[in-house]
Amino acid sequence: MRALLLFLSHQEGFKNFMLRFRIFRQTAWRFVAGETLDDAVQAVREANAQGIRASLDLLGENTKSQDDAEKAGREVTGILDRINTEKVDSNVSVKLTQLGLDLGTDYCYANLIRIVRHAHELKNFIRIDMEGSHYTERTLDIVLRARRESENVGAVIQAYLYRSEDDVRLLLENATRIRLCKGAYLEPESLAFKKKSRTDENFVRLMKMLLDSGLYNAIATHDEAMIAATREYADRKNVTKDKFEFQMLYGVRRDLQLLLAQEGYNVRVYIPFGLRWYPYFMRRLAERPANVFFILRNLIKG
Ligand code: FDA
Repeated sequence: MRALLLFLSHQEGFKNFMLRFRIFRQTAWRFVAGETLDDAVQAVREANAQGIRASLDLLGENTKSQDDAEKAGREVTGILDRINTEKVDSNVSVKLTQLGLDLGTDYCYANLIRIVRHAHELKNFIRIDMEGSHYTERTLDIVLRARRESENVGAVIQAYLYRSEDDVRLLLENATRIRLCKGAYLEPESLAFKKKSRTDENFVRLMKMLLDSGLYNAIATHDEAMIAATREYADRKNVTKDKFEFQMLYGVRRDLQLLLAQEGYNVRVYIPFGLRWYPYFMRRLAERPANVFFILRNLIKG
């Protein structure tokens, strides 16, 4: 089921078919804050009121033209300005394929670094999301290149990839902050663990490297076992609560987000918004069959 949904996340025909169903669009709003920056800022305010920080994400990936990539760059710069004027507590996450990675590495870097410089001026932070393994090497190269210019940029590491331990080491040697997640794309067995238990073992191994590093890193998961392992390790190693943060997705385990924040942990919620929500939403469906059954049940009810 997971593989099928991830495959369908790239199929325009299926997308157009599904968009005709209201329940499909309605379910998306559980995971996406809305179509506009106003909607997203409202969601940030609500999170902040509960003691939770945010990371805003303008949805979009695999941009096909320079016009679109530059437009996305300008919009992200605008998000940083808006965070600044509204005085809300949020940084920004970006995907490099939205900023033109398919159009060339140097081109994408030039687009990104304008954003990173702007974030630097505003004392904000840009997190570079990690996409499919086809992009891992280039994404890390660009992050490290940007990191040499500014400390206001960080990477994402996916625990399901075999290569991730080496990548964590390289990023930490270069004092680059990391968000650790399990990984959300369809990957071959030659590159990624297929069994959840193996991904989880690697997640815990990498989490320990992050907590030992002394850098302010992020543990991004809703998995209670991963969260318990992080808390236990932090306690054992005297890594205080201000030295790392938990991150979760908008619309997922709000109860857990709030609980951790109330216990004094730093919690950040990833808030996506915008018109291009389809692939993001399909990845969220793929993570949890119950989400798909909810839609199917409602489609049948009709
Ligand atoms: P797991 O999938 O084992 O889920 C644990 C529990 O969480 C489930 O039992 C369920 O209760 C709940 N849950 C998880 N997903 C749910 C969903 N969609 N709907 C409802 N409940 C759900 N990936 C990536 O490849 N690149 C990236 O840049 C990022 N960025 C990122 C940022 C942040 C802040 C988070 C939290 C996650 C990402 N991810 C990501 C996604 C990540 O790789 C992973 O796919 C999801 O977080 C789900 O994995 P869990 O760690 O939650 O565990």
